[in-house]
Amino acid sequence: MKRVYITTPIYYVNDDPHIGHAHTTIMGDILKRILKMRGVQVFYTTGVDEHGQKNQASAHESGFSVNNYLDQKATVFKSVFEKLNISFDFFVRTSREGHKNYVKQVLDELFSNKLIYKKYYEGLYCLGCEQFKKTSDLDENGLCPDHKKEPEIQKEVNYFLKISEYQSWLINCIKKNKTLIQPTVYQKEVLAMLNEPLDDWCISRPKSRVTLGIDFPFDSNFVTYVWFDALLNYISNLKLNFEGESEFNNYWANLIHLGGKDIIKTHCIYWLIMLKILDLNLPKSIQIHGHWVGKGGIKMSKSLGNVIDPLKLQQRIGTDAIRFFLSSKMTNKDSRINPSLIKSCYENDLANNIGNLLYRACKFTLKNFGDKVPEPGDLIEREKILHLFLEKILKVNISQPSLKISYELANSILIIGNKLNKYFNDAAPWKLIKGKNKEKEVKTVLYTVLDGVKVLFELAYPIIPNTANEVLEIIGANRIPDRIINHNIQVGKLKPGSKILSPKIIFPKLV
Ligand code: MSP
Repeated sequence: MKRVYITTPIYYVNDDPHIGHAHTTIMGDILKRILKMRGVQVFYTTGVDEHGQKNQASAHESGFSVNNYLDQKATVFKSVFEKLNISFDFFVRTSREGHKNYVKQVLDELFSNKLIYKKYYEGLYCLGCEQFKKTSDLDENGLCPDHKKEPEIQKEVNYFLKISEYQSWLINCIKKNKTLIQPTVYQKEVLAMLNEPLDDWCISRPKSRVTLGIDFPFDSNFVTYVWFDALLNYISNLKLNFEGESEFNNYWANLIHLGGKDIIKTHCIYWLIMLKILDLNLPKSIQIHGHWVGKGGIKMSKSLGNVIDPLKLQQRIGTDAIRFFLSSKMTNKDSRINPSLIKSCYENDLANNIGNLLYRACKFTLKNFGDKVPEPGDLIEREKILHLFLEKILKVNISQPSLKISYELANSILIIGNKLNKYFNDAAPWKLIKGKNKEKEVKTVLYTVLDGVKVLFELAYPIIPNTANEVLEIIGANRIPDRIINHNIQVGKLKPGSKILSPKIIFPKLV
C-alpha cells in the first residue's frame, strides 16, 4: 500500500489555538481523508512547539511551573484539534525525551563534522517570529510585517551552522523542481530571498537569555535554537513511531509539508539545507497557504487581539461548517475572515445550496413514492448532460496531493450543488407529477437528484465528514468508513429501492 507522510507546523504554546492554527491542521486532515479514500496509508502529524523565548515568557507569566504550563497548553491544542474532527496519527510535543535525544544526536554529528562553529553576533531579533531579521525583512517603518513590532538588538556569542555554502545548490534545486514549493508565488518569493547572500544560521541561544530549550550537547551554557529543534520533529516523528529504516523510507519518500506563508524561509531555506546536510531526500512538496486576516488586513495573533476562537465558532456554526468555510475561502494570499463572511458562507453555500437540495429531494420522494429510492426510467438529454458534467468533475486528478485540491474540492461541491438545484428546478417534478403517465419521468428526476446528492456528499466527505455520512445514510447509501478504502465515486450507483430516511435540516438557521 502506498504511504504518504503529511505534516503541519507545530504551534507555539504561548498562545491558545486560534482559527489560523486550526486552518492548517484541518487542511491536513482533509488531504488525509482524500488519500484514505484512494487507498493510501497516511501518517499525519501535528502538534506543539514547546521551546524558545516566547513560550518561556508565557510560561513564567502564567504562574505555573514550566512543565505544568506546557502540559496544559499541549492538552488544549490536542483537544481543540480533536473537537474539530481532525484525525492526526501523532501529536507532536518537542518536550518528549525521544525528540530531544534525536536533536542532540544531530547536533553532535554536525559538530564532529565541523559544520558548527561559535562566533560573536549582533542582530535584530523579532521575538514573535523567534528569528533574527535583516533590515530587508522589515516593513518601511522598520517593523516585523507579521507582528508589527520593532525587533530588538541582540548582541551575543552563539553557535552557527554552516549553510551559506549551500545557497547556489538550493537555488538550482528550487529552479529544477517546480513542484517542490507550491503554489508558484511562494517559490518565487523564496528565490527572491535567495537573491541576497545567505548567512550561516544561528542555532543556539545563551542560557542567560533562554532556558526553555534542548541543552546543547557540547556546551552547557547554551540551548538549541527553537527553530532548529522544531524542524527536526519531521524526522523524529517517524523515528519515534516506526522501527527500522524501511517504514521510515516509505513515508519519507512521500513527504508533504503544510504551512502558512510566514514559515517559508524556515521551511524552504533552512530546512531544505538541513536535509541536504543530513543526506535525506527533500520533501515531495511544501504546500503554503495564505493567512486569515482580521480587520484592516492584519494577520491574527494574540498580541494584536484579533483572533477568532475555533471553539466559540464551533458552538455557533458547527465543526463541518468551519471546515467548509476554511477550505473554500482560503486563497494563496491573505484571505479575509469575519462573522459576516462566515454567516454568508453558512447560509448561502451550505444551508441554501446543498442543505436545501437534500431536504427537498428527500421530502418530495417520501411524500410521493414512500421511503424507497425510486427506480429511474430512460435518461433523456437533461440527465445525460448532468451526468457528463458530474463525470468531468470526478475525473480531477489527485495523484499529487496539494492544498489547491482541497480548495478546488470545496468549490466543486458548490458547483455541483448549484447544478443539481437547477436541474431539480428545471425538471420541476412537482409540476410533472400532475401530468398523465409522467410517473416514470418524475422517478427518473428524483433518482437523478438523489444519486447526484450521493456523488456530492461522497466528494464532500473529506471536508465535512460527519455531515456527509449523515446524508449518505438518509438517502440509503453506504457511509464512508473510517478505514482506508479504495472508493471510486461514480455516477448512477445509488441502489433503487434503498430505504430513505426522513431528512433533517443539516445546516439549521443560525440564531
Ligand atoms: N512554531 C513555529 C512552527 C515550527 S514548524 C517546525 C510557528 N508556530 S506558530 O504557532 O506561529 O504557527 C504558525 C503556523 O500557524 C502558520 O504557518 C500557519 O500554519 C498557522 N497560522 C497561524 N496564524 C495563521 C493565520 N492567521 N492564518 C492562517 N494560518 C496561520 O511558527
